[in-house]
Amino acid sequence: MSVVDDIRDKLDIVEVISGHVPLRKAGRNFKARCPFHTEKTPSFTVSPERQTWRCFGACATGGDIFNFVMRKDNVEFGEALRRLADTAGVEVSTRPKEQVDRDEALFRVNQEAARYFNEMLKSPEGRAALKYLNDRGIDEKAIEEFQLGYSPRGRDRLRTHLATLDANLGHAAEAGLLRSDDEGNVRDFFFGRLMVPILDRRGRVAGFGGRSLDGSNPKYINTAATPIFDKQATLYALDKAASAIREHETAVIVEGYMDVIAAHQNERKNVVASMGTALTERQVYLVRSLAKTVVLALDADAAGQEATLRSLEASWRAMERRRFGQREEVALRIAVLPEGSDPDDIIRESVEAWDEIVKSAVPYMDFVIPAMARRHDLSTPQGKGRAAEALMPIIVSMGNAFEQDRYFGQLADSLGVTREQLQASIGKLRPATRERRPASAQSNAPPSSTTVSPLASGEREPLEEFVLAALLHWPELIEVVGDHTPDEFNRTENRELFTLLLATGTIDELQRRLDESLLDHFTRLTESDIKPTTRQSAPKAVEHALTRLQQRYLRDRQAEIVESLELEPGAQLPQEVKDSITSVNSKLKESYLVGVREKPHR
Ligand code: CTP
Ligand code: MN
Repeated sequence: MSVVDDIRDKLDIVEVISGHVPLRKAGRNFKARCPFHTEKTPSFTVSPERQTWRCFGACATGGDIFNFVMRKDNVEFGEALRRLADTAGVEVSTRPKEQVDRDEALFRVNQEAARYFNEMLKSPEGRAALKYLNDRGIDEKAIEEFQLGYSPRGRDRLRTHLATLDANLGHAAEAGLLRSDDEGNVRDFFFGRLMVPILDRRGRVAGFGGRSLDGSNPKYINTAATPIFDKQATLYALDKAASAIREHETAVIVEGYMDVIAAHQNERKNVVASMGTALTERQVYLVRSLAKTVVLALDADAAGQEATLRSLEASWRAMERRRFGQREEVALRIAVLPEGSDPDDIIRESVEAWDEIVKSAVPYMDFVIPAMARRHDLSTPQGKGRAAEALMPIIVSMGNAFEQDRYFGQLADSLGVTREQLQASIGKLRPATRERRPASAQSNAPPSSTTVSPLASGEREPLEEFVLAALLHWPELIEVVGDHTPDEFNRTENRELFTLLLATGTIDELQRRLDESLLDHFTRLTESDIKPTTRQSAPKAVEHALTRLQQRYLRDRQAEIVESLELEPGAQLPQEVKDSITSVNSKLKESYLVGVREKPHR
């Protein structure tokens, strides 16, 4: 159950609202003068059965406890949620509040450090660093977009700067910006380096990479693990690449910061970096919700490849994603770079050459089966055994039987064994692989995730999710929304996401403004496959769905009006209510007419 559901279950709307507005019982409902506009006759109604509120008067709005508190206290969704959670005694985040506050403080001090480094880059002291960037072809726009900076020499410049701002140096140390030297003096961690802020997927500065500028070693140093930074679970520039990845349904993963910057500067914005480490399972989890295809750009260098392949064997299971209980594989493709060159070099020389390399990436299996011969001595039974052991679990788990068969044959050929012999080797493997492959009902979420399975949480609103999934996938469809309103969404989370979509217009901006409590729901919708099947069919399909949501909304309003009146026969209706009824009726009629006109197509 989501926090939202939990809070809704624990609180009664009549109690919540009567804390702000004097409610009077009127039949099955409660009434009051509307707190949101001035009126003489009470047209504000609270329904204990529906757990909703509505003003039938001038504001003509309504909703649940969440948007009541949002309106009444003039706060954002997240704040309303926390206030109500307090009342309900529901824990909003699994993390204690002190931790959440501490993390926010760490992000803030990092942000200030990034700003300071960026300012220093443009100061006389930063001249050499700036020249270095210019010589590498990094322009001013990219410097700003990636918030690049320079950490001045001297070993306490940042510390001094933060101290003059009265910043909490303890937080700066915890964020990895300061450290104590052997004598116990607190010193800057980065100095005399080109600074690359590493943002998390919501665009907050989580850590830094610092490149030496004088050829000294190590070439890069990075923020060590902190409460808000874990390099292994981060993809550099994912915040900037997410919308392009979604649009192209493809993510390209390179190794380095500079590779990403070069790619983005050349309008290849679906590129992120693993930051030197061999791709980890957690990094794979980050992209698989966005992309159907992941292209991994691999160094020609054999040692580097070996490390990557090893780690892929460990993380390949993450390449499967689960969409509403159905297994779907993310296609992993490998692009091998020419000997001795980085994506950075290639892109600067010819972006077309880079495109060609990405385009000619081969499926992981087609790459890894031939690579086996280099990794194991296939002339010995032991070598063959190890190769089979490494690859058979992957092949056995493939969803597509034809593919499975093809790779099965290919592996047998390359090992120089018969299919029967290979088959016999799975006999031993099967039980283990079974165990590792969860039964279809089990969740395949990463172990760190604390989310409840979406399927377990009942009460879904498929039509609402259909609209949202489509809009998240093709944000430009916002055009077809017209005068549909968030009120037409029943489920609180959906309504809030729709509101944010209308307010922000871009997924990046939406993600930045998204309250943490909605992140799981948002992610699930971006992964959802209940959206229209093609881009072409999407506008009509979304329009239809919105029309149906509107019809439901209007029918509910009619029912509410009737309920709220509970009139003596022959009694006079207040003018405001008559107006509401007329307007609801005519809108409903109009929307049915749209339905009728469209019918022959369906
Ligand atoms: N890296 C690191 N620490 C190192 C070396 C590398 O964290 N000592 C990471 C960095 O994220 C770096 C990536 O691995 O961007 C790739 O390393 P490399 O190819 O050496 O760096 P480039 O990005 O190519 O850097 P440059 O082009 O500036 O030499
Ligand atoms: Mn490089």
